[in-house]
Amino acid sequence: MALPKTPPRAPRADSVGFAIVGLGDYALNQMMPRFEQSPRSHIAAIVSGNPGKLRSVGEAYGVPEDARYSYDDFDRIAKDKRVDAVYIVLPTGLHAEWTEKAFAVGKHVLCEKPMALSSAECSRMIAASERAKRKLMIAYRCHFEPHNLLAMDLMAQKALGPLRIIRSDQEYRMGPVTPAQNWRLNRALAGGGPLEDFGLYGLQAALYLTQEMPELITASAFRPENDARFTEVFAHVGTHMRFPSGAVAQLSTSYDAAGANIIYARGTTGKLIMDPAIGYSGHKMRLEQAGQPDRDLTPGDPDVQFARQLDHFVAAIRDNSPIKTPGELGLRDVRLIEAIYASAETGRNVWLNPDGTMRT
Ligand SMILES: NC(=O)c1ccc[n+]([C@@H]2O[C@H](COP(=O)([O-])OP(=O)(O)OC[C@H]3O[C@@H](n4cnc5c(N)ncnc54)[C@H](OP(=O)(O)O)[C@@H]3O)[C@@H](O)[C@H]2O)c1
Repeated sequence: MALPKTPPRAPRADSVGFAIVGLGDYALNQMMPRFEQSPRSHIAAIVSGNPGKLRSVGEAYGVPEDARYSYDDFDRIAKDKRVDAVYIVLPTGLHAEWTEKAFAVGKHVLCEKPMALSSAECSRMIAASERAKRKLMIAYRCHFEPHNLLAMDLMAQKALGPLRIIRSDQEYRMGPVTPAQNWRLNRALAGGGPLEDFGLYGLQAALYLTQEMPELITASAFRPENDARFTEVFAHVGTHMRFPSGAVAQLSTSYDAAGANIIYARGTTGKLIMDPAIGYSGHKMRLEQAGQPDRDLTPGDPDVQFARQLDHFVAAIRDNSPIKTPGELGLRDVRLIEAIYASAETGRNVWLNPDGTMRT
């Protein structure tokens, strides 16, 4: 656990106070340390089921004892004026319930990806945000990461000519654990598994690179027999998507293959290779264009993605600026995940409406 050695800076008068809900790996080791880099954000409260973590994390981040909440006394946060927003960083199957709870106590919500396990849950979360008149943002950090932003710009400028092919690989090998030991293998908390967790990045990239919605999805999913890891979730999912322009995307994701984190785009006159593409750091990006020398592109430090995501959300709260990754984007992606599983289950093509719902 990466705890700060010195107390955090004093918040500015216009800083948004966040309650962090769920003190797990991503919250403790990635997001919480980055609040220091976002001038208008600070950690005002923490929420956890683990009293030991509440104490050690609370002390390290200077969170007063009366701003350390258990899940059972979360509703008390309604009266806590130090807290403007809640950051939901719980297992996915709990996102909808805790987002609704946060809106019910009048706070803004930054919710981790994937937004939820079903489009019905996503719609409930959006409705709760509208009822509460509070902001909802999905924590899609790649929309704030310099390499991915440059890739979006290059595609908008048609740097590869018309885009034809996208390929993505998001894979790693899960250790010898069971669904009881790791929520990522538990269907009620993780849905189908690697697609929602890691493959979602490839799905997102296919859409933000083509700037289109797919019209057709064909997919298959595999769950091995006699493997204690995969009694509830799939080991791999392969998806083929076709877009109205004719571009096609092939997306692979697995919890049982050697690590890969690659996005590859090919147009009529060039190609873009991102490997690694969507991690926390170490991104590499190569552009090959007809008639020009190949170029390695270094648009900036990927580390800024975490703080820029916070900056963007606080600007929406304080300045009412539009959110690039709103609940509607999370809903769109969960609809596509549902279409992928529908195709995998039936073995058939699934045709889509422009909003990602399945055509009947
Ligand atoms: N944007 C990204 O790059 C990124 C990367 C990794 C993860 N995430 C997302 O962040 C969320 C959390 O992932 P994580 O990797 O941090 O998971 P994790 O290490 O397992 O942490 C999840 C935390 O949720 C709390 N929790 C409450 N009920 C739980 C339950 N029934 N089972 C397990 N944990 C429970 C626990 O915190 P307490 O002990 O404090 O109660 C636990 O430590 C997920 O939505 C994931 O998709 C996003």
